[in-house]
Amino acid sequence: MHIDDRDPPARTPVDGGFGTFDGDGFVLPPDVVYLNAASHGPRLRCVQQAAEAALAAGVAPWRVGMEAWVESIEAVRRGAANCLDGDADGVALVPSAGHGLSLAARNLPLAAGDGVLVLGGQFPSNLLPWQQRCAEVDARLHAVARPVDATGRPGDWSAAVLDAIARLPSLRVVALPHVHWHDGSRLDLDRIAAATHSAGAALVLDLSQSLGALPVDLARWRPDFVVSVGHKWLLGAYGLAYLWASDAWRERGMPLEQSWIAREGATVFDSPMPPPAFARGARRFDAGGVADPLRLAMSAAAFARLHGWGLARVHAGLQARGRGLRDALRAQGLGGWLAEGPGSHFVGLRPPPDRFARATAALDGAGVVHTARAGGLRLAPHLDVDEAALAGVAALLARTAG
Ligand SMILES: Cc1ncc(COP(=O)(O)O)c(C=O)c1O
Repeated sequence: MHIDDRDPPARTPVDGGFGTFDGDGFVLPPDVVYLNAASHGPRLRCVQQAAEAALAAGVAPWRVGMEAWVESIEAVRRGAANCLDGDADGVALVPSAGHGLSLAARNLPLAAGDGVLVLGGQFPSNLLPWQQRCAEVDARLHAVARPVDATGRPGDWSAAVLDAIARLPSLRVVALPHVHWHDGSRLDLDRIAAATHSAGAALVLDLSQSLGALPVDLARWRPDFVVSVGHKWLLGAYGLAYLWASDAWRERGMPLEQSWIAREGATVFDSPMPPPAFARGARRFDAGGVADPLRLAMSAAAFARLHGWGLARVHAGLQARGRGLRDALRAQGLGGWLAEGPGSHFVGLRPPPDRFARATAALDGAGVVHTARAGGLRLAPHLDVDEAALAGVAALLARTAG
């Protein structure tokens, strides 16, 4: 990064509320400040090494026994489960959040006139399946509009969602994230889950922008389905995502496809009549093709590192970065740019329109990797970014004022 000579890049996170994360760290080019974990997590060195070892092992696949392969699938399932409620039977391996959410939309009962609730601007993977299903059965999709306060500043999504749940008749499904992917605005899932259950609706959560960064409380929220990608805050491989299903759906849910891997005795490969029963728990939703040794190795390494650090420490370190970045921006007089209600581990900024192009150009010029979309900036640090780097970014943005 070339922000300022006084703000040298730091590859190893420092202490001071931000937490010290030992281990061999991240592999990133030295001249960037990577603030794009909401798109793709930074690459851990142990993940890179696991990927290289898996590629090398792939030269002689016959040396990897079936048992070891099955165990590597279960190890990743346990790693994901330990980020959720600890029950590996509840987790399926799927290729994308969209796959898991489509499966939820296929399984949950919905009829003409029923309602499904989503957030305005919600990520398409948690919108398209509901749009499609609503169109098929003539149900109604309600998108909660982004709330604004009396001064036009962004308001609190949770209040708007709670209001919609109370107001909407025949609400059957509430399908939400924990934080909005645009700007990290956090939803109060404790209250929203309770209201959803009181309304008699099913709860579906897309935790792709929060799992690994915020604690989850599935026992309290009692969702029907939960999904998360693995390549953002969980630091694993692209193309390996997780679907958690409640007990009821583990018993009677239907997968989107019929794959041998989701059946009992999966690796026997004969073709009995009738077909074998579904595998135990949420394994019935395991998708074909995702048990790719490369992706499994990368994600297993990431989970081992996250759980080695301790998830509570990782959460605290990431929340401290979100808070630290917001504080640094306010200290630079940019508090008015913050595009959020209750914030979380990443930050959305809405610079005045005449400053937007200058702000993105300054970030690009300094090697600050970020997302710029529709007049907004998203700055999403992971544990590789320290306090000084965040202060440097805030100072750089403030200099675009002149
Ligand atoms: C909230 C959210 N859900 C899901 C995804 C990804 O979905 P999929 O795995 O279907 O590509 C993203 C970003 O890529 C996201 O921000």
